[in-house]
Amino acid sequence: MSHSTADRHTAKNDSSGCGNVIAPSTLALHGGRPVANPAMQWTWPPRYPGMGELLKRYVDEGEPLSIQGRDGILADCEDALKQVFRRKHAVFCSSGTMALYSAYFAIDLRPGDEVICTTVTYHATAAPALHLGARVILADVEPDTGNIAIESVAAAIGPRTRAVASNAMWGHPVAQDALRALCDQHGLAWIEDVSHAHFAEFRGRPVGSWGDIACASLQGTKLVSGGEGGVLLTDRDDLHDRAVLLGHNLKRSQTCVCDPAYAPIGRTGYGLKFRGHPLAALLIHDQLTNHAARWVAERRDALTRLSLELGKLPGITPPVVHSSTTSMGAWYGYKPHVDAEGLGVPLDRLVLALKAEGLDVDQPGSPPLHTLALFDPHRFPIGAFEKADNRGRAFPGAEAYGKGLLSLPTPTGVRDALILQQLIDGFAKVWRGLDDLR
Ligand SMILES: Cc1ncc(COP(=O)(O)O)c(C=O)c1O
Repeated sequence: MSHSTADRHTAKNDSSGCGNVIAPSTLALHGGRPVANPAMQWTWPPRYPGMGELLKRYVDEGEPLSIQGRDGILADCEDALKQVFRRKHAVFCSSGTMALYSAYFAIDLRPGDEVICTTVTYHATAAPALHLGARVILADVEPDTGNIAIESVAAAIGPRTRAVASNAMWGHPVAQDALRALCDQHGLAWIEDVSHAHFAEFRGRPVGSWGDIACASLQGTKLVSGGEGGVLLTDRDDLHDRAVLLGHNLKRSQTCVCDPAYAPIGRTGYGLKFRGHPLAALLIHDQLTNHAARWVAERRDALTRLSLELGKLPGITPPVVHSSTTSMGAWYGYKPHVDAEGLGVPLDRLVLALKAEGLDVDQPGSPPLHTLALFDPHRFPIGAFEKADNRGRAFPGAEAYGKGLLSLPTPTGVRDALILQQLIDGFAKVWRGLDDLR
């Protein structure tokens, strides 16, 4: 982009007559000074004080680096997870994806069974069901939250439907009570993906305590993260048993399964291995017991302020939080909507201008599942299984939700105070310069 247009508007001769001075209002896209230092990027999980010591002490003291039973730090981590999500059983896994696979296996999903899954989610909410031969029927979403729309689920229920899979998008609970009631009415299992929603609450009750099974990723930039990790949570002994037998063989499969009928496969289980790493469990346990509650409060305060400030700018709708949401918990992503058409500036140009200011702003990277080749019935087969055909169906809610959506970091606490301020200042500056972008 040439600097000419904006610079002609804003450059002034300085008093010494030595040349042009760029006005502070000049957009960085047009050669002005960026608001933020691009080297100062938001990162998560934080390298908090004591984190390295904790890992070093565990290793130096000769604690186990592989735990085959429900023992040691693995049991401590699971106990902490059970408490957060108010569940009877927790099974710590190597990833959220493997926890979800275990969930679909636990409900005994068979080839040809149907799972109704939200189309707006990360692909792993539904992909494991394909590996059991299930037909994934995609449901539309609420246009404001991006969460599975109850009417769309109700319309998709048929004689082969076995389960519903939801994802509490960015920490916003789904219509938990309505979905529970619908699943009960039709005898369906509800697999709740709560990867985004650690500590989120619907009418005072934790998200993750409503489904027949809840699964959470505990990897990467999730609020609570072991680097890699996941968990399956349930109150039902039968579902717990099948999840343990699927992926936690040798000791746990022999010592922790409730139903004695499984004794003949006690040692091998169903033969796969999904157990998580003790060092990941150590980090997750530490974060759950010593840090997460503070992070939730800090993130809530920062994002409430961000919404207040961005809400003052024309054409921006901060993320909607329904009154039934008593906590956004992890608030895993901050996604405002921008009415680019109304502002008269293409969204990608706005994003360029915001990025040029050094802000970590982008359009979200996970397209709806109905657009992904993975779910195309004629491409990339998985064994001899038949995939459901979701092509050609309309998903107006998903389309409305995705329109103008921006992805921002989630500043948390004093360490991110400057990043928060730069987001506020950067948006304000770009919005003051909208005329120069039109
Ligand atoms: C909603 C959702 N479900 C599942 C997963 C998969 O988790 P993992 O990467 O731990 O396998 C993710 C990961 O980002 C996710 O965001």
